[in-house]
Amino acid sequence: MSHRNLVVLTGAGISAESGVPTFRASDGLWCGRRVEDVATPEGYAADPALVQDFYNQRRRQLAEVQPNAAHRALAELAARWAGGFLLVTQNVDDLHDRAHEETPPAAGFELIHMHGELLKARCTRSGVVTGWAGDMTADQPSPHHPDGVMRPHIVWFGETPLQMERIQRALAACDLFVSIGTSGAVYPAAGFVQAARHSGARTVEINLQPTSGARLFDEGAYGPATEAVPAFFDTL
Ligand code: OAD
Repeated sequence: MSHRNLVVLTGAGISAESGVPTFRASDGLWCGRRVEDVATPEGYAADPALVQDFYNQRRRQLAEVQPNAAHRALAELAARWAGGFLLVTQNVDDLHDRAHEETPPAAGFELIHMHGELLKARCTRSGVVTGWAGDMTADQPSPHHPDGVMRPHIVWFGETPLQMERIQRALAACDLFVSIGTSGAVYPAAGFVQAARHSGARTVEINLQPTSGARLFDEGAYGPATEAVPAFFDTL
C-alpha cells in the first residue's frame, strides 16, 4: 500500500522506555503530584513556586534521558519520506527533536509540540516564547515586558493546544494516521483518529496494549514502542 501524506501522533508511551514517566500510571499521580496542582492555570495561580519547581525538575531530567529506538525509527522514516509528514507530539520532552537533529528529515516534514515544550518559557504579558534551559523562579522576571513573568511554555488543562489549525489541515489531507503511545484520554488529540477516518485515511494504533479507543482504528500493533514502532515503519 503506498501512502503520500502521513500524520503521526505520539504520547508519553513513546518516551517511556527512555525513562520519562507516563501520565496515567496506576497511582493517578503525575511524578508524585496531582495534575490539578501542577498542570492547570489555577494550580499555577495558587502556588507558582510549587509549579515552577515541578517543571524545573522535569527540565533537569531531560539531561538524563536519550531518544530511544522508536524516536529514531520515526526520524529515519522522516528522512526517507517523500510526501507530507506531520509529527504531532503531546510530549513536552525534546526527544523527538534530538532524534531529528541526528537524522535530518526530508523537506515535507514538520514537528509540532501541541502541548508545549519544557525547554521553552513564555512571558505572561506579551506572550513571547523563548528557549529556556535552566530553572525558573516563582516570579521569574520577563525580559519581554516590564510587568510580565516567565512561565513554563506548557499547555495546561483548560488552555488551548498549539497549532490546531495546522493539525486539522494535515488530518484533512492525510491518507495514513498512526497514533503511538497515547491513552487517548485527552482531547482534542483523542479525536484526531476520527478526523483522519473522515478523510478516508488508514488508521493505526501502536501501544503496549489496546487502548479504550482501539476500535476506532483500522489496525493495531501492540508491544513496547521500541519494538513495535520500527517494525511497523519497516512495512511502509
Ligand atoms: P498517558 O500516560 O495517558 O498514556 C500513555 C500511554 O502509553 C498508555 O496508553 C500506555 O499503554 C502507553 N505506553 C506505556 N508504555 C509504553 C511503551 N513502552 N510502549 C508503547 N506504549 C506505551 O499519556 P498521554 O496519552 O501522552 O497533557 O497523555 C496525554 C496528555 O495528558 C499529556 O500530553 C498531558 C497529560 O495530561 C498535558 O500536559 C497538557
